[in-house]
This record gives sequence, C-alpha cells and structure tokens, in this order.
Amino acid sequence: MKPSFKVGILGATGAVGQKFVELLDGHPWFTITALAASERSAGKPYREAARWIGARPIPDAIADMAVVEATPDLDCDFVFSGLDASVAGSLERQFAEAGYPVISNARNYRMDETVPLLIPEVNPDHTALIERQQWPQGGFIVTNPNCSTVGLVCALRPLHDAFGVAQVQVTTLQALSGAGYPGVASLDALGNVVPYIGGEEDKLATEPRKLLGTLSDGRVVPSDIVVSAQCTRVPVLEGHLECVSVQFEQPATPAQVREVLTSFRSPIAALNLPTAPERFLQVFDEPDFPQPRRHSELGGGMTVAVGRIRPCEVLDVKFVVLSHNTIRGAAGGAILNAELLVQQGYLTQRDAATVATV
Ligand SMILES: NC(=O)c1ccc[n+]([C@@H]2O[C@H](COP(=O)([O-])OP(=O)(O)OC[C@H]3O[C@@H](n4cnc5c(N)ncnc54)[C@H](OP(=O)(O)O)[C@@H]3O)[C@@H](O)[C@H]2O)c1
Repeated sequence: MKPSFKVGILGATGAVGQKFVELLDGHPWFTITALAASERSAGKPYREAARWIGARPIPDAIADMAVVEATPDLDCDFVFSGLDASVAGSLERQFAEAGYPVISNARNYRMDETVPLLIPEVNPDHTALIERQQWPQGGFIVTNPNCSTVGLVCALRPLHDAFGVAQVQVTTLQALSGAGYPGVASLDALGNVVPYIGGEEDKLATEPRKLLGTLSDGRVVPSDIVVSAQCTRVPVLEGHLECVSVQFEQPATPAQVREVLTSFRSPIAALNLPTAPERFLQVFDEPDFPQPRRHSELGGGMTVAVGRIRPCEVLDVKFVVLSHNTIRGAAGGAILNAELLVQQGYLTQRDAATVATV
C-alpha cells in the first residue's frame, strides 16, 4: 500500500509555488488537484497566470489547469502554502479553521508556540506540537524555516549534539530567487551586493533557537544559542551560501567538526521518504567548494553542502555552508515535511482510503 493524497497549492503562481509544481510532478504520493493564487490569477489557465521561471516546461497535467482563488473550499486533502506573507496569516488561518492541514513556507506562524517549525532531519519530534493546536475538523499548520536558517541549522544540528553550540556568527550571500519574482530590481542586483534583506537577520537569530530546542511536556524549550547574522543579497540565481563561525561549549577541533558532520546519520533515514536525499550533509575538502552554481542541486537540491572547515581566530571553528533556497529552503523542505507527517500519521485523506500500489 502506498499513500495517495490530493494536494492544493496556495500561491501556486509565485517562485515557491512554481517549485512546488515542478517537484510534485510525478511524486509517488501527492497529486496536485488545486492551484490557488490571488484574484489577479483566478480564472486563468496556469500557463497564463504564472510567469513560469522554471528551466523545464510546465508539466502537461498542470499547464491548462484553471487557477482558483485561495478560498477554503478546494478539492484536496491538504495544502502547501507559498503565499506572500502579507496575506498568508489570514488565508492560512482560514484553511486551518476549515479543517485543512496547511504546510507553509510563510513566516507568519513560524514562532507560534503551538506550530512546529520543522526540518525533518533536525527536529522530527517537534510535530507533536500539532496536538496543541485547537483548529476544528483536523486542521493544523506546520511551517518550515526561513531559507537562510535552513542551511545553517542543518549544519549546526550534529555539532550541537556533539559539542553544544554556544555562539554563532554568520554572514549570508543569498540568491536572488529568495526574493520571489520579479524580486530585486536588475539595476540593484547586477554587478552588485545589497547588504540588507529586511527581517532576515532577526529570523536567523530566533528560528535556530526554536529548531534546536528540546521538546518537553508537549512544548519546545528553546535552545539558548546566540546568533549574530549579517545578510546580503548577491547576483546568484539559486543557492544561499553562508560563512559561519561557531563557539562551542566543549572544545572541538576542525577535524572533529568534519568527522561529526561526515558521520551524522539523519534521524529519518530509515523512513525512506521520497524527497529525503541519500546524503543529508555533504562535506567538501576542496578549498574552493561548495559553490552555488556547482553544488546547489546536489541530492535534487535537498543535500546541504559544507566546506572550508578550519580554525576560527575569534570563535572556535569556521566553515561555509550552502543550501538550495527554493528547494531545501522552501518547496522541497515543505514536501519533505508533508512526507514525514504522512509517516507519523498526522496527514490523512479527507475522504478516501489509501490505494493499493500497482
Ligand atoms: N523564494 C524563496 O526562496 C523563499 C524561501 C522560503 C520561504 N519563502 C516564502 O514563501 C512565500 C512565497 O514566496 P515567493 O518567493 O514565491 O513569492 P512570490 O513569487 O511573490 O509569490 C507570491 C504568491 O502569493 C500569491 N498571492 C499574493 N497575494 C495574494 C492574495 N491576496 N491572495 C492569494 N494569493 C496571493 C501570488 O499570487 P498572484 O500571482 O496571483 O499575485 C503568488 O502566487 C513567502 O511567504 C516567502 O517569504 C520564499
């Protein structure tokens, strides 16, 4: 028996929405049955409503599907949300109230104490927070972190387990696709670096504390890691690179850091989830790796790359981490979240039983 779910995409026409469409094409468990966006797009076929930016064409089954307004009457078992944050708060709440599980990329509910902020390889047990949500008819909200938080925390998880992470200095070099479409004006982006991304540094300071927190009596006790972040936008299409320095609670050498990152075993490895990469972390020894253009797509964009592990003259150890912002940092991360929720029994069909594998 394999699971079979009908899924809707809120914000289906945006940069993240398009990644959902791309990644769900041929997914073994999830079939897109609803594409929703603003009233500007509603009523149009998807190929007209979306300014498609994918490298491959729009999947045939989706191109002529009509986009509908994001109202909670969609024919689906749950929704993925790639909604703009200005509308995600109220629309996601409406869907949860109407009994839909909402697997969101937006920032609005990330720090709500009853909402899991989830990376399956980092904190799979935090899904227990769902039980504290009070929506009627089985609705709930699960979020994934900001795209720059994701790479950082994936690298910190094994290190925190092994040595205790006390303080982190991180400077990000973030890709243009992280700003959606059309995103940053070309005259600001080309041949330039913009040393400011609104709200981003605050997310990097707060979200890791929740992600690396421990679950106790159904609540997350945040970790007391201190993160100092500087965020920049660089003229790269996909892949957020981050330069990280870490101070540990227990002494750790670069060689020990490398060993811990290399030998980390993902806690969800045995579940064989369709979107989980074979390698969660890939450590490079080449002095000039990882690079966004060469390594963002590792593991289908779900592998997080680490390199340049060396002593830090100010804190203890420094390194570089790279993650694909619209796959691992957005749509791919959300799909993996949904797969974990299926395996844990939180996601169930609204009106049908599982279908037999042919
Ligand atoms: N890009 C990334 O790397 C990334 C990573 C992690 C998280 N996120 C988050 O994911 C979300 C989407 O980001 P994005 O980059 O895909 O943004 P985007 O390209 O601007 O897309 C926004 C989507 O929201 C829809 N929308 C806007 N107003 C609406 C309304 N009133 N009712 C219904 N739908 C509405 C848009 O539909 P129309 O086309 O009809 O206007 C579009 O589909 C944001 O919350 C963002 O912070 C993005």
